[in-house]
Amino acid sequence: MGYKVAVVGATGAVGREMLQTLAEREFPVDEAVALASAKSKGREVSFGDETVLTVMDLDKYDFKGVDIALFSAGGSISAKYAPRAAKAGAVVIDNTSHFRMEKDVPLVVPEVNPQAIAGYTKRNIIANPNCSTIQMVVALKPLHDIARIKRVVVSTYQSVSGAGQSAMDELFNQTRSIYMNQPVVKEEFTKQIAFNVIPHIDVFMDDGSTKEEWKMRVETRKILDPDIEISATCVRVPVFIGHGEAIHVEFAKPITVQEARAALRKAPGIAVVDHQQDEGYVTPAEAAGEDSVYVSRLRQDPSVKHGISFWCVADNLRKGAALNSVQIAETLIASYLSKAA
Ligand code: A2P
Repeated sequence: MGYKVAVVGATGAVGREMLQTLAEREFPVDEAVALASAKSKGREVSFGDETVLTVMDLDKYDFKGVDIALFSAGGSISAKYAPRAAKAGAVVIDNTSHFRMEKDVPLVVPEVNPQAIAGYTKRNIIANPNCSTIQMVVALKPLHDIARIKRVVVSTYQSVSGAGQSAMDELFNQTRSIYMNQPVVKEEFTKQIAFNVIPHIDVFMDDGSTKEEWKMRVETRKILDPDIEISATCVRVPVFIGHGEAIHVEFAKPITVQEARAALRKAPGIAVVDHQQDEGYVTPAEAAGEDSVYVSRLRQDPSVKHGISFWCVADNLRKGAALNSVQIAETLIASYLSKAA
């Protein structure tokens, strides 16, 4: 016996990836429901190679009978509709930032804090962390376990797909305009993104950081350890899919590069590709379409007493969003919602 699963935002970059991931991983789906805005009603989206779903209008949809609802249609949509779905009995797995920092909503990366899922019963909502946070905490967890992390300094190189389908279109259109000597049109981004980098993701906070940087800090502390200090700089780069991160970690205890590499190699969800020579590292273009969090360029950080630096890449639509949500759903059904006969 399987589950009735709804995907909210099914026409978007992450929503389509959610349907793809559910099908690829053979999640036990009895019935899949694709939901989006009224303007997409009647559109068709693929669910695996053989099934096509007709998109329904979220606003008119009754969630009664839905077991799991994966939301990725933006924070304001989750704010309004996730509680409705939860009240109707569905367990919501929300990919937006709306509920992440609420105390009674678990924020989960299955490789790091699967036990937190148990708290879903309070609101019937589980939050999926920010894409940049997910790949970083997957890599930090095995290192924290052996040498206790004190402080992390991270700079991100984030692809445009993190801002949705229209942002991907903007990079494409601006690139074409520049080659055709036409004016560059900005809509999603505050500055030209083609052939440029933008040190600004999400809104500015009072202290001068951006909300994306704040999210990396508070989410990492909620998931991994509230005592870790984090300084983040988040940058958008003209890459379609795949986020890169340069991560510098300061530890409480001594740790060698060899120990770090061995711990990362053993940890779930991580692939260490670190040949320290031409092409011996992973870039976003190679990570796109893959499930792993890739770690490369491991080295001692000589600027602190116990420090390791490395480069970390993952597909932000998969591990950074859809895959993590589906893994949460898998853990949920295995441990809490079992329909096994
Ligand atoms: P739609 O295509 O109907 O606008 P992305 O992050 O790639 O931009 O995707 C956003 C997703 O959120 C899309 O599936 C989009 O559907 C959906 N969405 C946006 N606004 C609404 C809304 N008011 N109600 C339901 N879904 C929405």
